[in-house]
Amino acid sequence: MHMRGRILLLGGAIGLVAAALSGCGGTDSGAILIGEFASLTGKEATFGISSHQGTALAVEEINAAGGILGRPLELRTEDDQSKAGEPANVVNKLISRDGVVAVLGEVASSRSLEAAPVCQANKVPMISPASTNPKVTESGDYIFRVCFIDPFQGTVMANFASKTLRARKVAVFTDVKSDYSKGLAKFFKEGFVKAGGQICAELDFNGGDKDFKAQLTAIKAAAPDAVFVPGYYTDVAIICIQAKQLQLSVPFFGGDGWESEKLVEIGGAAMEGHYFSTHYAADNPTPRITAFVEAYKKRYAGKTPDAMAALGYDSVMFLADGIKRAGGTEASGLRQALAETKEFEGVTGKMAMNSQRDAVKAAVILQIKGGKFRYMATVAP
Ligand code: PHE
Repeated sequence: MHMRGRILLLGGAIGLVAAALSGCGGTDSGAILIGEFASLTGKEATFGISSHQGTALAVEEINAAGGILGRPLELRTEDDQSKAGEPANVVNKLISRDGVVAVLGEVASSRSLEAAPVCQANKVPMISPASTNPKVTESGDYIFRVCFIDPFQGTVMANFASKTLRARKVAVFTDVKSDYSKGLAKFFKEGFVKAGGQICAELDFNGGDKDFKAQLTAIKAAAPDAVFVPGYYTDVAIICIQAKQLQLSVPFFGGDGWESEKLVEIGGAAMEGHYFSTHYAADNPTPRITAFVEAYKKRYAGKTPDAMAALGYDSVMFLADGIKRAGGTEASGLRQALAETKEFEGVTGKMAMNSQRDAVKAAVILQIKGGKFRYMATVAP
């Protein structure tokens, strides 16, 4: 009995040493384990697939160039199925089962907001590629993002409506199920009123609804010059189709949530001429963007990378830069190095981390023309 207990103990100790050598975030010689959670399936699947493909491409490029501090990166990816409840679940797995040194994700703000407290409680740095709601990084000092935030994006689109569209009266149509949509609606309204405009109608929908005609009829009755829809592409496309059927033929415009090739696939001609703000334009011919677009197309059967793909890529490069400057992956040192990022040049532009760990950087405005997204303008912070 006594003997057996000791052998078991010894076995346990060997197991522990083996685990320390092989994994749990990696040791000096092994791979650096990085976690990623994304909506690979479900309602916003294109968000997750794009961000994942950009993320994976960056990991492959880093490894092909010899890794970071001589160690390869190993990416563990979990699908949250675009579902509430899943982000906390899968991020817990990445942290306690795999022992990742950092977590990358998510695109949608509501899902980043769910995962952030888990990362913060475990002191594992989390980098959201694309969640723009300000509350995300308020979860704590281990939470970062490589995108701008919605007070900025809302102001950009408020000025666009007032100066470029010359709209005086705008209707706002908000997805009340999404933190992103509610936040962006609020910041847009504040900015537009400040620019001298008037909000002539405010209507709500629930992401996933199929019939928007009652609200669109009310919007039409308010005779707006333009309609702001801070939603995600699936809903936006159906909204624009139904608006067209109701002959509500004023410009529609929105934010980065519009960005998916599915927007035009679903919405077709109903999307023509409309506008949205986002993080980067694939057709903007800077050398950095051209090189990225080429590498991505080569890797993914000719597909053009959208903003989520570019931001997923940037999230890895930003993390890699932090690990290099920290000289390792120890959590508090890595957190500090990331927080001290003064200038980082990504595919989506130059950015600096501010004291809230949000990236300060420019936005772009695109127009849908001939079924394609056309670059119109860059707006600096
Ligand atoms: N910014 C959106 C959010 O916070 C997500 C998004 C980013 C969508 C980029 C499309 C492109 O929910």
